[in-house]
Amino acid sequence: AGRPVAQLTVPVPSFVRSLPRKAILLAADSALLRRLVARYGMRLGAARFVAGETLDECIPVLRRLNEAGLHTNTTLLGEEIPTADGAAAAVSAYVEILDRIAAEKLRANVALKLTHLGLTFDEETAFANVERLVAHAGRLGLFIRIDMEQSAYVEPTLRIYARLRAAGHENVGVVLQAYLYRSPAHLEHLLPLAPNVRIVKGAYLEPPEVAHPDKQDVDAAYLRLVETALRGGAYVAVATHDERIIRHVQAFAAREGFERDRFEFQMLFGVRPALQRDLVAQSHKVLVATPFGPDWYPYLMRRLAERPANLIFFLRNLV
Ligand code: FDA
Repeated sequence: AGRPVAQLTVPVPSFVRSLPRKAILLAADSALLRRLVARYGMRLGAARFVAGETLDECIPVLRRLNEAGLHTNTTLLGEEIPTADGAAAAVSAYVEILDRIAAEKLRANVALKLTHLGLTFDEETAFANVERLVAHAGRLGLFIRIDMEQSAYVEPTLRIYARLRAAGHENVGVVLQAYLYRSPAHLEHLLPLAPNVRIVKGAYLEPPEVAHPDKQDVDAAYLRLVETALRGGAYVAVATHDERIIRHVQAFAAREGFERDRFEFQMLFGVRPALQRDLVAQSHKVLVATPFGPDWYPYLMRRLAERPANLIFFLRNLV
């Protein structure tokens, strides 16, 4: 599944290192770039972050991660689907994925995006689709994480999560993004539900009116969310590759007496694999988010924007 990102030894030119995240996310919208990368990207390096284009390619990757002591979730890559037919096709695909995970007895769950299931055009459609999947997963003893997307979708996503919980579904979790000013208020609203909440820094291009523009503010907000969530009774998925944050959470949990069954660490497939294994060796639960599917372009662009040095894969493979 590719060489670990953090272990690349090729020198990274300083112009690549200093490319701002915003520039990469803006460039990602170019139709020409999308066509080029979609055509050659899997060969040029996308496979480091994506476990193949088909479920059959993804299953052995999930199994290998399980064998290394890691939990996994998988995602059929896709987002911003504009039609009911497209959303219905995603639901059918997820039913097949859930059935396959159960049949193969993998330690795997599903993480999905509501704009893949209809949220782009109709909240009710998205709710009906995700409820069908959460109910199906429940019958199989599986869990579904609802990813968090651009800020315009945050309130509808949280409404849908609350409706699922009100309908009695316990096998579903949600995500809060530390960069959003409103996430602490959202957490307060969620805590009475004893939620399973994943905390992330936030991966989308957001204006300074809605999100902290400075990294150190995002990092501080991240820690506050994790601490508040743990103290408030949530189960917390600490999703980050930031070792400083990971060490802080370990120390905080030890100091305040939170057992290891109250939280887990989560990282992305292809990012910091040695750190993933170190945490397993320290008896932490670690989950690797391992997506697959042909529509990997926006996912890959967000990964490149997080660490512009990753662009070096593409530049190197081009030459
Ligand atoms: P940060 O970006 O500060 O990176 C810390 C260090 O980690 C870097 O110095 C580098 O060493 C390493 N690193 C980070 N990203 C890397 C990359 N792409 N390649 C190589 N090295 C990298 N976002 C969102 O908005 N909604 C969501 O639902 C999710 N879901 C989600 C699930 C999981 C399991 C993870 C790990 C992340 C997400 N995210 C997300 C993405 C998240 O918002 C954020 O963009 C990334 O995790 C990168 O931020 P870090 O917390 O890793 O810190």
